Amino acid sequence: MKVPKGLQPLIEQGVIDEVVCALKSGKEASVYIVSRGGQTLCAKVYKDAEHRGFHKLAEYQEGRKARGSRDARAMGKRGRHGRKVQEAEWKNAEVDALYNLDRAGVRVPRPEGVHDGVLLMELVRDAEGVTAPQLHEVDMTAEQARIWHTFMMTQIVRMLCVGLIHGDLSEYNVLIDASGPVIIDLPQAVNAAGNNNAFRMLARDVNNMRASFGRHAPDLLDTHYAHEIWAHYEAGTLTPDSRLTGTFEFDETEADVEAVLDEIEEARLEAEARQRGRDEAESEG
Ligand SMILES: Nc1ncnc2c1ncn2[C@@H]1O[C@H](COP(=O)(O)OP(=O)(O)OP(=O)(O)O)[C@@H](O)[C@H]1O
Ligand SMILES: [Mg+2]
Repeated sequence: MKVPKGLQPLIEQGVIDEVVCALKSGKEASVYIVSRGGQTLCAKVYKDAEHRGFHKLAEYQEGRKARGSRDARAMGKRGRHGRKVQEAEWKNAEVDALYNLDRAGVRVPRPEGVHDGVLLMELVRDAEGVTAPQLHEVDMTAEQARIWHTFMMTQIVRMLCVGLIHGDLSEYNVLIDASGPVIIDLPQAVNAAGNNNAFRMLARDVNNMRASFGRHAPDLLDTHYAHEIWAHYEAGTLTPDSRLTGTFEFDETEADVEAVLDEIEEARLEAEARQRGRDEAESEG
């Protein structure tokens, strides 16, 4: 096919030999199949900030460290250098996360480097050698859904054990290859330790998986892995082999809504009684 602009420098520098075809164009990137020395790879070309919806970025970037102090200062500013540094950080964050997670035993596409802002990685394929489908495109038995759901919970735990939360985990960002789920799309990966929204984002990731697999196995909808995982994480007892149950003892004393409503009602009745007393005293006097 005609070489897209974003891949031109890689062809010129001989980093890749050929662009085989376009795979998907999403909100944030265009993804291509390319070849390099007889090997087929996946190339992710990021869109510019303007086409990406930058507003969401702050929530993810909290706690992320810039590489140098000049860059750290620039990231806090709106100027051109600041924007350039943010752009680079965004692209580097995904490849950093892929290397970290690959090392931590999380199933992600094997990273093959970044060149001119283009991420090269393994092309994830199904049993027939065709590009792997996204999770929502796959039909499965309840039994299979439970097995893969459990697998995804351990993947999320392994990520958190190296300090990362995916932050955009959904049935669009999980591919199903010949041996099961593979996690993709990580430019927004969140540093759990430095981010005030960490639990909220972890819970969103966990609960997205619950909803997707729960469509095939409704019993999963009663599980509470997010709270359980976070409790272990905060207690410092989370390990890649932590045994999870999906149950969580919510603190009933903290949110006894009924008791609170009872008290409000009691206060209202008391106030009414007092008012009645005053009214009666007035009419008598
Ligand atoms: N390594 C890969 N192997 C096979 N397919 C891939 C790979 N990476 C991405 N894809 C395909 O391209 C799609 C888009 O990739 P990705 O989610 O990383 O980009 P995106 O632009 O952030 O997408 P979106 O904004 O739609 O979430 C994926 O859903 C998947 O179908
Ligand atoms: Mg995606």
